[in-house]
Formats: sequence, C-alpha cells, structure tokens
Amino acid sequence: MLAIDRIRKTFHPNTVNEVRALTDVSLTLAPGSFLIVIGTNGSGKSTLLNAVAGTFFVDAGSIAIAGQTITHWPEHRRAGLIGRVFQDPFKGTAPTMSIAENLVLASRRGRRRGLRIAVNRAVKSELRDRVRSLNMGLEDRLENPIGSLSGGQRQALTLLMASWLKPELLLLDEHTAALDPKTADQVIRLTHDIIQRDRLTTLMVTHSMQQAVNLGDRIVMMHKGRILHDLQASERARVRPEDLLRRFEDVRRREQLDGSVAAMLEQAYI
Ligand SMILES: Nc1ncnc2c1ncn2[C@@H]1O[C@H](COP(=O)(O)OP(=O)(O)O)[C@@H](O)[C@H]1O
Ligand SMILES: [Mg+2]
Repeated sequence: MLAIDRIRKTFHPNTVNEVRALTDVSLTLAPGSFLIVIGTNGSGKSTLLNAVAGTFFVDAGSIAIAGQTITHWPEHRRAGLIGRVFQDPFKGTAPTMSIAENLVLASRRGRRRGLRIAVNRAVKSELRDRVRSLNMGLEDRLENPIGSLSGGQRQALTLLMASWLKPELLLLDEHTAALDPKTADQVIRLTHDIIQRDRLTTLMVTHSMQQAVNLGDRIVMMHKGRILHDLQASERARVRPEDLLRRFEDVRRREQLDGSVAAMLEQAYI
C-alpha cells in the first residue's frame, strides 16, 4: 500500500544550516496497517509524513502508494490518494466557510476546484448523518463557520474530512497534541473508530507513549532522520509505555556520552 524506499531529505544543503532530516528511510506498509511513529523532537517524523504528502520532493529514493510511484507527483495530485490531519486545529480547514461547505470541499478532494458548491437536500442529509457520528452535537450547526468551533471539534471535523473518501493513506501528525487531555481522548477514540471501520492504512505520529501502545499494530521510533527501532508482531504486542520511555532514555544517554566524548576530544586537541 505504501512503499518508501531509501528516501533522503536534506534542508539547506551545503550551508551552515544544513539539516539531514531523512537519511535512507525505508518503510513498507501492508494495506490496512496502522503504523505509529514516535521519536525525539526534530528526529524527522513530520518530515517523513511531509515527504509522503509531497510538501517537497525527496533528494533520493522513491515513494509508491497503491502500486503507483508518486515520487515526482506534486502535492495536489497526491491529495487524491492521501488524507491528512495536522497538529494545528487551524490547519486543514477554511475557517470562514461553514461546516457544510468544508465537508463538501472534502468530498471533492482531488477534483477540479473553482466550481460552485451546491449543497442540496440529499447532500445535506448525508453531511448531517456523518457529522452526527462524531457525537459532538455539530449536526445542527452545519451552517456555522468552522472558525467558531473549539480545537477538538475542529480536529474531529478535519478527521472526518480527511477520511471522507476513504483515502489510500491517512497521515496524522500529532493531531491531538494541541488539545486538552479529555478532548484528546475523544478525538483518539474517533480516530480509532474511523480507521477500524474503513480499514484505512494509517501513519500516525504521536508524542504520547500511551497512544503509541493503545493504537496501531506497529511502532517505529525515529532518531536523527533514521528509523532506530521497528516493533512488529509479538514484540509490538508485548511493548508497554515504560519500555518505549526506556528506549528514549537510551538514546539520550548515548547522546550525552557522545557529547562528553566530543568535549574530551576537543579538550585534548586544544
Ligand atoms: N522546511 C524545513 N526547512 C528547514 N529545516 C526543516 C524543515 N522542516 C524540518 N526541518 C528540520 O528537519 C529536522 C526534522 O524536523 P521534523 O521532521 O519536523 O522533526 P519532528 O517532527 O520529528 O519533530 C529538524 O532539525 C527541523 O528543524
Ligand atoms: Mg513534528
């Protein structure tokens, strides 16, 4: 379903600001699989999702979705295959447009824009049914602008929009990180239900070890633009939040060690 083969991405190459954000990352997801991506800040999680979504082109390697090589496809073309939800509830929806208009736009994703949006009675009835399934009481507020909703309500709607056309791939980038714990739980439950119901192939980034363990069927831990751990099958089934935290600790300890060795070497050569 998703086949990533040795992709690389360097930002600001050959300058003092050079960042090797992805180095030879390979990953294959079977249809219907649900991958959780964890890793320290700046380890390349968002860059991985952005590379797949086409926010930029990778420097090397290839990406295929549903058997089609999309490595050189522009972002808008990939949008026909991919649904996305970002961390920022203000991203991914048009705030001045109504809930209904946003949903109609989502239902036309990947098609030509600029056509007048007709929201007739049949369409509205389907919208209302789907919005009711969110259990957020938004079905009677379809004419309200998205901008008037809370962060949690927006994320729920963005999730509904991203999954509307049963995309080949769903990308979730810390989509509950900006929400209070109770709302985050609600959006996570919804995420779980939608993915299960539609058997969506999913790549989800989270900083919550609890979410990482409760959701999905595989956990990848990134570090410095590479995949450091890839937990699958029985190893994945056994893992607990504290095991994941320990792996973060290991990375930190190794970095401190590297740092002190570097400092010692520096001293030795001064
Ligand atoms: N558009 C960009 N321009 C320059 N540097 C970037 C850009 N996006 C990400 N980076 C850098 O690439 C590295 C990985 O970033 P990111 O993928 O956002 O990390 P994560 O999501 O794991 O926290 C970081 O050092 C970040 O500063
Ligand atoms: Mg990120």
